Amino acid sequence: MKFFIDTANLDEIREANELGILDGVTTNPSLMAKDNVTGEENIKQRYLDICEIVDGDVSAEVIATDLEGIIREGEALANLHPGIVVKVPMIKDGIKAIKYFTDNRIRTNCTLVFSPGQAILAAKAGATYVSPFLGRLDDISHDGLALIEELRTIYDNYHFETQILAASIRHPMHIVECAKIGADVATCPLKPIMQLLNHPLTDKGLAQFLEDYRKGSNP
Ligand code: E4P
Repeated sequence: MKFFIDTANLDEIREANELGILDGVTTNPSLMAKDNVTGEENIKQRYLDICEIVDGDVSAEVIATDLEGIIREGEALANLHPGIVVKVPMIKDGIKAIKYFTDNRIRTNCTLVFSPGQAILAAKAGATYVSPFLGRLDDISHDGLALIEELRTIYDNYHFETQILAASIRHPMHIVECAKIGADVATCPLKPIMQLLNHPLTDKGLAQFLEDYRKGSNP
């Protein structure tokens, strides 16, 4: 399973990248605003800065919601850097735009996916990635992980090449469950990625090893 970090914050991206396990980055307009990156030029510059740090796919989201606007913005984003994947919302003109981008060899991430039917349309249009938002489903008492399982079954049934990019991840067990189901990618904030490191028996065992080493060195 590939690991993407879900943030526009350069320090967080650098920290995850330094672990050596980062395969890409996802952003969205809310994450840009959270990091105080506003205005078209600043946002484009932030994408370039991210692409300089990470050797992998960087999802850059369009703001337009009409076909012509999505295509115009998407082409401009794709021209910024070869690592850019154009993130397109799951709406009617979004699906048309994904088909256009597919036909023109521009990679896409279909975002805001909450149902298997939406994911089928994204795959049929040739999306490179589909982003089911599992945490937001959990937030409204639906089973987000069940959606990831359904998508895995459907995509395997028809050998769709669209990669399942599990998004809206809230905690480390979401990551582990996505790996068990067979999601192709998990995109997560820095915190749950770092939380994967933790186990009390690791801390206890390491403290014991170091103590025993010191005793052995100073008998
Ligand atoms: C995915 O690409 C989205 O940016 C993200 O995972 C949404 O997560 P949230 O529900 O925590 O905002």
